[in-house]
Amino acid sequence: YVIGIDIGTSAVKSVLVSAEGKVVCEHSESYPLHRPEPGWSEQNPEDWADRTIASLRRLMEKSEADPADVEGLSFSGQMHGLVLVDSKGKVLRPAILWNDTRTTQQCRKIEKTLGSKLLDIARNRALEGFTLPKILWVQEHEPEILSQADLFLLPKDYVRYRLTGSLGMDYSDAAGTLLLDVANKVWSSEIAEAFDLPLSLCPQLVESSELTGTLLPEVAEAAGLLPSTRVFAGGADNACGAIGAGILGEGKTMCSIGTSGVVLSYESRKDINPQGKMHFFNHGEENAFYVMGVTLAAGHSLSWFKDTFAKEASFDHLLEGIEAVPAGSGGLLFTPYISGERTPHADADIRGSFIGMDSGHTLKHFARSVMEGITFSLRESIDIIRQSGKDITEVTAIGGGALNEVWLQMQADIFNANIIKLESEQGPAMGAAMLAAYGCEWFSSLAECAKVFIRPAKTYSPDPEQAEVYSGLFGIYQDVYGQTKDLNE
Ligand code: XUL
Repeated sequence: YVIGIDIGTSAVKSVLVSAEGKVVCEHSESYPLHRPEPGWSEQNPEDWADRTIASLRRLMEKSEADPADVEGLSFSGQMHGLVLVDSKGKVLRPAILWNDTRTTQQCRKIEKTLGSKLLDIARNRALEGFTLPKILWVQEHEPEILSQADLFLLPKDYVRYRLTGSLGMDYSDAAGTLLLDVANKVWSSEIAEAFDLPLSLCPQLVESSELTGTLLPEVAEAAGLLPSTRVFAGGADNACGAIGAGILGEGKTMCSIGTSGVVLSYESRKDINPQGKMHFFNHGEENAFYVMGVTLAAGHSLSWFKDTFAKEASFDHLLEGIEAVPAGSGGLLFTPYISGERTPHADADIRGSFIGMDSGHTLKHFARSVMEGITFSLRESIDIIRQSGKDITEVTAIGGGALNEVWLQMQADIFNANIIKLESEQGPAMGAAMLAAYGCEWFSSLAECAKVFIRPAKTYSPDPEQAEVYSGLFGIYQDVYGQTKDLNE
């Protein structure tokens, strides 16, 4: 067996996976998220470590697996969260998470100081969620804490440190800090110096599948595992989600519709830079990258709609009969900017809209137009990737959006690509398990592992007529942003 551990924002999920790629057991343990001020989002790194060990123990108890059969484990983790530790490895303040928005000023400072160098080196725009703005916030507001800091870590790196005693950070997660020279895979001394940060604050870099040590004896005992269990570095949750969906080769693209939506495409070219509109990060596979676009309120738009206009209905009930509403929802168009938008607009202030309302429209028209608006937003990311010279003909659908047949067909029609649904889907924890399986040398590459671990179940092909309708509407959808952007000023 191998174990994959995903350090999420609300819980840690562990999966025990067999050599055939079958998830034989899984267990989650949740932990609190603290919001001490509006816009702040913090967690106690101790909770992650403690709950991870507890989740491993329960996993081993529930599965009744022999600890000697667990050959290795690895991690996936929420990206960008700042953990500061002193020279003894003690945590200096609560972790500041990816969804904390206190750092707008620091982002402006980064852009002003670095100018075009930011995109040249770090390959991403300065967004509130990323790590460097958080470090600068601590530098400005809590200088005594930063001066005690020996290293900064990301969430899963801290947990790995607590499990093994070894410190390090993998490239896929380091890419989300804005301190990494992404194409050359080294910390950027130029960026660190520009903000008076010692390069020694940055941990040693490792590959996601690299062996980082074995379990500390006391941890092994508490977790019900053997101290000889090998621990591999692991990766960012988006990289692990991509590995777990088989996005491991040129042309492979996935679309995940959860609370937020993600379009992610494998990239072997290190010199492309999609106008800074997309994230460009190192993959969990050596020397590979991925481009990624994010729709902030994807599933969130639909749950907001349900909670606001059809509170009593279940999702199944709300979406029942939605296929009878024609493509284009009878002229009703929705833009899903209810909490701002990341890709392509990077605009926290834009808000959503319904346009084209008709007295004949029913709740079903509205529900369908919400699904269409979310999918149009994701199509914007697909188009940017296509404009970078990539031919996207096939997209693997995961997340809640892959559970509904109408939405799967809608993705095929709006993206104008075949949509692949997987047989079973375990998300980033599975990607982490695959890193361990590859690290244990069960396979010669992650792609070989994917051939065994990931099985497609069904393909949805675009319907030419519906695709045509959507292609016309997409132009109107794209115009709405410019027309509504001043509403909130
Ligand atoms: C990626 C991002 C989120 C977190 C969630 O840029 O902010 O997807 O990784 O865990």
